[in-house]
Amino acid sequence: MTDLAAGPAVERYLDLTARMLTRFGFEGRSLTVKLPRRSYEAYLYGLLQKATKDRDVRLVEAGEFGPEQQQRRREGRDWPADAETMVGLLRLENVRHCLEQVVADDVPGDFVETGAWRGGTCIYARAVLAAHGVTDRTVWVADSFEGLPPPDGRFDADAGDQHHVEPELAITREAVEDNFRRYDLLDEQVRFLEGWFSETLPDAPIEQVAVLRLDGDMYGSTMDALEALYDKVPVGGFVVVDDYGAVPGCAQAIHDFRDARGITDPLQEIDWAGVYWRRS
Ligand SMILES: C[S@@+](CC[C@H](N)C(=O)[O-])C[C@H]1O[C@@H](n2cnc3c(N)ncnc32)[C@H](O)[C@@H]1O
Repeated sequence: MTDLAAGPAVERYLDLTARMLTRFGFEGRSLTVKLPRRSYEAYLYGLLQKATKDRDVRLVEAGEFGPEQQQRRREGRDWPADAETMVGLLRLENVRHCLEQVVADDVPGDFVETGAWRGGTCIYARAVLAAHGVTDRTVWVADSFEGLPPPDGRFDADAGDQHHVEPELAITREAVEDNFRRYDLLDEQVRFLEGWFSETLPDAPIEQVAVLRLDGDMYGSTMDALEALYDKVPVGGFVVVDDYGAVPGCAQAIHDFRDARGITDPLQEIDWAGVYWRRS
């Protein structure tokens, strides 16, 4: 057993970092990414994007940040316009819980997130390690840094998937590095795996994964990450699935993989979307 650093300074630092990363209460108003859903909205948005090419012009909805919006942000139900993560406070708390548990129990390995977007969850993982003075674990940030891949025909569950057309999901590596710098958390304990999971993860120079966090939305992205990394998760390590309740294809990949491997460790609920299990 390893004793973790504790006390009000650790609590306040991690609490403040989580609220900052989700912009919980930092915006006077709630600023939420608005995805064009109706066809005329998509058409107009397409025109706007063409007209403002090379400029950061986005569709954002402004509203109150009252109890209802706070609950949505807590549960990661909206896409904040400017926050470094969309996962919400409850799923960040889960990252903290998993990391603190593996450190306390001496379960070896790194933190890996497959699907980082603006990097906020990885930034939080690095903050948790920093808060406890952990220097022998790495945070791996795996992403294409150009959004999701179009369905490649390997999996029926991904047929017709439209994530790849969302410009909001394509965040450059430079932007993610800048976000780490904002929090003074970009250092040698942070490493990037840039490219499609199917190409970067199988040969990634990662020895063990104490916390594997899957956040790639699609069936294929979830399955590619599990196939490449699950065998590196030691007993006592965690697998966290961000999109289980939100994307049916992701849930199907989890069931298919667990069935194929005979995994019976119970799935535990984090919130409406996220689940996790601990490897026994
Ligand atoms: C929902 S976002 C991740 C949200 C993020 N974890 C957060 O804290 O807000 C999904 C990310 O997965 C990446 N992604 C999905 N499938 C991928 C794949 N097959 N290869 C590489 N990146 C992928 C996308 O580029 C995108 O950044």
